[in-house]
Amino acid sequence: MTLTSMTPTSQAHEISAASRLEHVRYAIRDLACVADEVVKQGHKVLPLNVGDPLNFDFQTPPHIIEAVYKAMRDGKNGYSPSSGIPEALQAIRGEAARKGITTVHDVFVTSGVSETVDLCLSALVNPGEDVLTPSPDYPLYSAVLCKLGIRLNAYDLNEDDAWQPELADIERKVTPRTRGIVLINPNNPTGSLCTRQMLEQVAELAHRHNLIVFSDEIYDKLILDGTPHIAFASVAPDVPCVTFGGMSKNYLVPGWRIGWGIVSGDAAAVKAYTDGVNRLLRARLCANHP
Ligand SMILES: Cc1ncc(COP(=O)(O)O)c(C=O)c1O
Repeated sequence: MTLTSMTPTSQAHEISAASRLEHVRYAIRDLACVADEVVKQGHKVLPLNVGDPLNFDFQTPPHIIEAVYKAMRDGKNGYSPSSGIPEALQAIRGEAARKGITTVHDVFVTSGVSETVDLCLSALVNPGEDVLTPSPDYPLYSAVLCKLGIRLNAYDLNEDDAWQPELADIERKVTPRTRGIVLINPNNPTGSLCTRQMLEQVAELAHRHNLIVFSDEIYDKLILDGTPHIAFASVAPDVPCVTFGGMSKNYLVPGWRIGWGIVSGDAAAVKAYTDGVNRLLRARLCANHP
């Protein structure tokens, strides 16, 4: 049967979206759709919501653009290995060393930290399990967890303690089905930095409850008052951890979609999980390459 021989129906059947998307929200971008409508009605809108430094007069350094342009001209436009090209992996290992992370087991390149988050959560949780995420949150985490059908388990950041994680609240919320904890340090949206003592306390708690720590450090070079950044994995070399980093903010190229993960901790403890992450990395071929 061809399309033209099909009898036209007066009523179109709706193609519904998967029901697991019902609770997927990404407040920042969802709000942008509303703002677009308001702009269409002729109103002026100041876009203070999307964290794109290029919208606020920052410029990508020309030598970075030249390097990518040269790579493309030199024919580096094919697929890369699923973890990333060797030069990038070496550079990420160098970055891990500068951050004081000594127990690195694996590094991999992703299409932005957004993909690192998606991969790392997908590789961890089974139905009925959960991951502790900070509140107020950066909405990517809850969006991915909702997509995976995972119940949200948010812990408080304490405004009266410079927005440090509220340890008592974390302790209250850990259950036998909790598999991991997300730290965003420096934090979005609060801008706070975790103290060394806080990182040590989170490490102790993670160790005691057998949790993997996802330490999102995408803003580690953007601390404006000069306070040194302390990488979680540097104070907790034995605790299973994936440190997230990327080029979007620190190197002013959010549109290039380049991020990475650094897996560290006790070797035996992270082996099976790392294999799972690599299976997912292979399943999506590779990240952006040139
Ligand atoms: C805390 C945090 N993590 C991850 C991301 C996503 O970054 P990427 O552009 O690398 O996907 C952002 C972007 O705003 C962020 O604020």
